[in-house]
Amino acid sequence: MTNVNLRIRPGGRKDIKEVVKIEELCFGAEAYPNYVFNYFVDGRSYLFLVAEYDNRVVGYMVAEKRGEGGLIVSLAVHPHYRGKGIGSALLRETIKILREEGIKGVSLQVKRGNLDAISLYSAFGFKIIRVLRKYYIDGSDAYLMEKELI
Ligand SMILES: CC(C)(COP(=O)(O)OP(=O)(O)OC[C@H]1O[C@@H](n2cnc3c(N)ncnc32)[C@H](O)[C@@H]1OP(=O)(O)O)[C@@H](O)C(=O)NCCC(=O)NCCS
Repeated sequence: MTNVNLRIRPGGRKDIKEVVKIEELCFGAEAYPNYVFNYFVDGRSYLFLVAEYDNRVVGYMVAEKRGEGGLIVSLAVHPHYRGKGIGSALLRETIKILREEGIKGVSLQVKRGNLDAISLYSAFGFKIIRVLRKYYIDGSDAYLMEKELI
């Protein structure tokens, strides 16, 4: 972590309220509701991390572990706190933990027009594998991206 005000830590039930607010700001109608995050906190196959900046929860990441594969389920940073390396710090920590747990590859879906996210994932070595047509509720396409961890 390069920023002294930034801390990446496991998320818990107490973080869900703030996380859902960020989720709604970032994803609107496609945001996961509260109960889905309860499921992420309880489920042993999920990794849930939050980013605290100046002691405030400003970002989070959820990944699912499926055998030797991992899936980035959600990654978001509060709009006021973007461009400070927080998304990168969350992704770096996620990859480190998944690798330590023996996960061999990670995949994700990202909206085709989401250039900030695509450039972040590309910088971490994720490659576009294919286009998933009309993947989202608004009819837009997704890229399926993957990264090997071995
Ligand atoms: C994608 C997201 C998580 C990045 O978070 P962040 O904290 O801003 O990311 P970082 O500061 O670590 O920046 C990482 C890279 O993202 C890109 N990026 C971030 N902010 C950007 C901006 N305002 N303009 C252009 N590119 C930007 C850059 O490539 C940047 O790398 P660089 O700093 O070396 O140029 C954030 O934009 C976000 O929450 N977006 C909405 C939710 C979302 O789309 N999530 C992904 C779903 S798949």
